[in-house]
Amino acid sequence: MAQTTIRDAAASPAWDKRGWRDRPRIQMPDYPDAAAVQAVEAQLAKYPLLIFAGEARRLRAHLADVAQGRAFLLQGGDCAESFSEFSADNIRDTFKVMLQMAVVLTWGAQLPVVKVGRMAGQFAKPRSAPTETIGGVELPSYRGDIINGFDFTSQSRVPDPQRMLAAYTQAAATLNLLRAFSTGGYADIHRVQSWISDFTGGPEAARYRDIADRISDAMAFMSAAGVTGETAHQLAHVEFYTSHEALLLEYEEALARTDSTTGLPVAGSGHMIWIGDRTRQPDGAHVEFCRGVQNPIGLKCGPSTTAEDLKVLMEKLNPANEPGRLTLIARFGAGKVGDHLPRLIRAVAEEGANVVWSCDPMHGNVIKSSTGYKTRPFDSILREVREFFAIHKAEGTIPGGVHFEMTGQDVTECTGGVRAVKDEDLSDRYHTACDPRLNASQSLELAFLVAEELRGRRLNGALDKAV
Ligand code: PEP
Ligand code: CO
Repeated sequence: MAQTTIRDAAASPAWDKRGWRDRPRIQMPDYPDAAAVQAVEAQLAKYPLLIFAGEARRLRAHLADVAQGRAFLLQGGDCAESFSEFSADNIRDTFKVMLQMAVVLTWGAQLPVVKVGRMAGQFAKPRSAPTETIGGVELPSYRGDIINGFDFTSQSRVPDPQRMLAAYTQAAATLNLLRAFSTGGYADIHRVQSWISDFTGGPEAARYRDIADRISDAMAFMSAAGVTGETAHQLAHVEFYTSHEALLLEYEEALARTDSTTGLPVAGSGHMIWIGDRTRQPDGAHVEFCRGVQNPIGLKCGPSTTAEDLKVLMEKLNPANEPGRLTLIARFGAGKVGDHLPRLIRAVAEEGANVVWSCDPMHGNVIKSSTGYKTRPFDSILREVREFFAIHKAEGTIPGGVHFEMTGQDVTECTGGVRAVKDEDLSDRYHTACDPRLNASQSLELAFLVAEELRGRRLNGALDKAV
């Protein structure tokens, strides 16, 4: 492990799962009925954890590989899961498109791809304003289905703790289905590869089909060579992890437990949890909660992240400097990556810190379309990913992964892509409860383009070494 200037874990201040309550809390609801919240917390605290601590540790180990350039991270899913869009088909379709993307990225990176859904817990949303005004009526903002309702009525916008129980139940059912899909034969790589070959669209699609053909040749070769035993087993199964923003700390605390194997606290709400760009204050409640659990932690880094804050946060969140513990999720916006990523990469280098660098090209690229819808142009998303890769190449650091808001459904929320969603099309199938998501076709297309980027990088790297 790299030389470190970061303090050892043993020197960290003591942690208690209620400790966040003494810190400034922002972006969290003020529940009108404290007794009702306590009753829900007590109930949740008796429920089984949604994930096992051993699984969270295994994901940490995979992310340690990502930190060291031996694997690539694909994280994706809804901006906000919702109660109304919950269905087996939606879960299956998002899972399916993520597997397709993972196969394409495996080809591109020539590395195993670690798959992490924004699923089974991604319910709470930070908002840019505490209230929303429509037609002269001002109401509290919608904060995600785990907190209040989307309908624009004063009754629906009141934070309701019962929603935590509904979110838990939905997360449990989602995870149950994901676990079944992961091991029941649905995720067999031969099937997944056959779905990719169906990609259709404009002239660019021919290029993507060419990649799909090359992947299928590789599969045919493996079959002919007679892949058997443990490897065949691995090809028929998939490891799929869950993640969400740990925003609603009452829910997180109720599902935090002590892991009997290690004696350390674990967040039982999902395998990986992350801290949002709005709630990463070093002395704030969210950092305080996340620092004490052993799960892998994500930290969103936006344009306002200072090098000083990042250093303090790395020390708090990963005092033992273990690779795989901390993933920095860069989200600056196309055209702005060059202003921010190099200075943060240098801050990491100055600390000798081990981190995964992942690129979220979604949250810095939201615009209002000419038709009034919040959207993200496909070209801006791609441009931010390319800038991220180019800067890591220039700095000699590892671009470890990508983080997308996406769905397996054929929605019209982001513009562009080979099937060219236009501003006028956005109203057709705009279903998101929060930010605009890539649809199935746009997600897979982006995977093809990122794979080309990764391939080029690898080949150029080989050439660099040869000369
Ligand atoms: C999100 O990931 O949905 C989100 C709100 O991101 P950020 O904290 O980076 O704005
Ligand atoms: Co979002």
